[in-house]
This record gives sequence, C-alpha cells and structure tokens, in this order.
Amino acid sequence: MTARVPAKVNLQLAVGPPRADGYHDLVTVFHAVSLFDEVTVRPAERTKVVVTGADAGSVPAGRTNLAARAAVALAKAAGTGRRGKSAVLIEIRKRIPVAAGLAGGSADAAAALVACNELWGAGASPRELRAVAADIGSDVPFALLGGTAVGQGRGEQLTPALVTGVYHWVLAFGVGGLSTPEVYAACDRLRAARAAGAANAATAAPRRLAEAPAAPRSPAEAAAAARRSAAAAAASGSPAGAHSAVNPAIAAAARPDQAETAAVQPPQLSTALMAALRSGDPVAVGAQLANDLQPAAVSLRPQLRQALTAGRQHGALGAIVSGSGPTCAFLAADAAHARDLAVAVTGAGVCRAVVAVRGPVGGATILAGEPT
Ligand code: C5P
Repeated sequence: MTARVPAKVNLQLAVGPPRADGYHDLVTVFHAVSLFDEVTVRPAERTKVVVTGADAGSVPAGRTNLAARAAVALAKAAGTGRRGKSAVLIEIRKRIPVAAGLAGGSADAAAALVACNELWGAGASPRELRAVAADIGSDVPFALLGGTAVGQGRGEQLTPALVTGVYHWVLAFGVGGLSTPEVYAACDRLRAARAAGAANAATAAPRRLAEAPAAPRSPAEAAAAARRSAAAAAASGSPAGAHSAVNPAIAAAARPDQAETAAVQPPQLSTALMAALRSGDPVAVGAQLANDLQPAAVSLRPQLRQALTAGRQHGALGAIVSGSGPTCAFLAADAAHARDLAVAVTGAGVCRAVVAVRGPVGGATILAGEPT
C-alpha cells in the first residue's frame, strides 16, 4: 500500500514565548506544495524502515523514524497490534530534503498513517488519525490535511483557510540541514538579547535625565536641591551625586515603546495575509509572507541572507525562509516566472538545488497504481 504526501511551507510563522513543556505557541499558515515523498507499507515479520532517494543516508532507518513511530502508534490506537498483524516494512522514497524546514519527516509519518490504516483495514477516522498524528509531531496533522490551513497551539490545531488560485514557488535548498529545536532555541536567545538591550536602553534614559536635572530657577532652589541630594545620598549610604539603581520594570514602563518591542507578544494571525490569500493575488501574498524563525535560521546559517537576496533580486514577489530552514521559498507571479526564477537562483550559486513547485495541494493520499 502506497501513499504520497507533500512538503509544506509556512506563509506566516508567528512564534510566542517558550511554554513550560518546551514548545512554543504558534500561529502559522501552512501551505502544502507539490514536492512529494512516497511511502509504501507491506506486512513483514518485524517493523523496519528502508529509505531511498534524496538525503536517504541522513534519515534514521530504525524505529525512531517518525514513519515507524506512526505505524506503531496507529497499531496501538486501532488495536491492530493485539491481532498480531501490525509489523510492516516501510519503504520511503524521499524527494523532500531532510531537516530543511519542509516537514519531510512529518510528511512520511502522515503517509505511513494513511497507508497502514488502509493496509490493515483499521478504519480509523480522519479525526482519529489526526489525534495519533499530533502525538507524533506538531506538523504531522497538517501533512494529513494538506491545502492551506491555519495552525495553532504547537501547530497541530488546524483550521482550513479560504484560498483562491494557485501559487507558484521556487524552493532553494541549502547545504545540509538545520535542527528545528536549535532554531527555536536560537530564536529565544535572540529575543532575550533584544529584550536585555531594550531594558538597558530604557534604564539608561531615566539615568540620563537624573544626571542632568532641570536647571534650578533661583539660588534658593539650587540650595534646596543640593540639600535633597545630600539627604538622599546619606539615606541610601551612597556618596552624594551617585545614582540609585533604576528598577528596570519601572524604567521600561516609562518607555512603553521599548518595553513593547522587547516583550514577546502572543502570536497573532495576519489578517492581511488571509485577505491576500482570499484575493488570489500573488503580489499581495508575497508582500505578507512572514517568519519569526527567520532571524534565528539566518543567525545559524548566514549564507541564507545571500539566497534571500538572490531571490528578491531576480524578481521574487516574496522571499522567506521556510519554517526552521534552511530552505528558502520564493513566490513567483506564475508558472513561467517560477521557471525563470528557478534558473536565475540556480545561476546565482547560493544554494544546493532549486525546484519549482505549486500550492496548495492535497495532503497524504493513497496512490491507486504502482508508486512512481
Ligand atoms: O513537534 P516536533 O517534534 O516536530 O517538534 C520538534 C521540536 O521543535 C520540538 O522539540 C521543539 O524544540 C520545537 N518546537 C517548538 N514549538 C513548536 C513546535 C516545535 O518549540 N510549536
């Protein structure tokens, strides 16, 4: 039994502060694109994974593979394991690059779920499959659903989005992958550093004011100010003229502009992006692409800056790092523009490989005939 499953890009990825469980609350707009893995499952003595195709060597082939974990989890949820027929040979034909920000591993897990459900006649409903999928990984439910959808929570709570038209993309693959947990951790670090910088700037401003008090209007006022300063210094044990520490929270409150920039806001859906997607206008969509993980991915892989610039210089309507990277996604005006853009980005020599794809496409589906 064979299932085909698409890669995804995130048209918006808004990341909230870290949660107690180590995950981050997200608001994201997933978009499935026409770059597919295929997964075949067959009854076997014991569960095993064989991987062929792009990056096959870097995919774990044991039971830690997400597709194998998905098969085991479905067998448990559907009770198939108890009937002693749940072991499967899982063959994954990879076209989606590994650790690329395209949810390739999650895609394989979703394909394994639908293929095993069919092979075993387990009869799990889409809702039951989604529940098993969410336990395997945050992006797995979307790989089942496909299309374009808003993800919330860890990304596993999905609402299909209203989208007009077909969007043409160029995907530029980086050399090697990026670890998703490392990119989220780098995002937290960058934000903490920015918050510390803003707090310092906010404390410095009242200090500067304290250092330069308003000029006394009369000699009597000057004498009174000197007495107040000496008394305050004596009370605090500091030499006269030293400044008492400014409470950063109070200082930040005094400068709401900086305090707001520093605090990580709860993630918000971009209504401008949703309106653009409804309108079907790729120019409008391109202008609204946004990824909070992009600065972190670029900090870990500075070459991404050149790739993004190359895409923009060659006329991309929008240029963005996909998910946690390092793939860059460039939006084109139409299929012909995507082909030209793919050639131009390839010529720029800033990435490992380039493909032109379209979206949205459906989620994991059983292939009727033989695998391609
Ligand atoms: O859910 P999944 O296993 O795909 O997530 C991989 C890693 O990505 C998590 O262990 C976590 O470090 C990070 N992550 C996160 N917040 C999310 C999704 C993933 O921090 N919403």
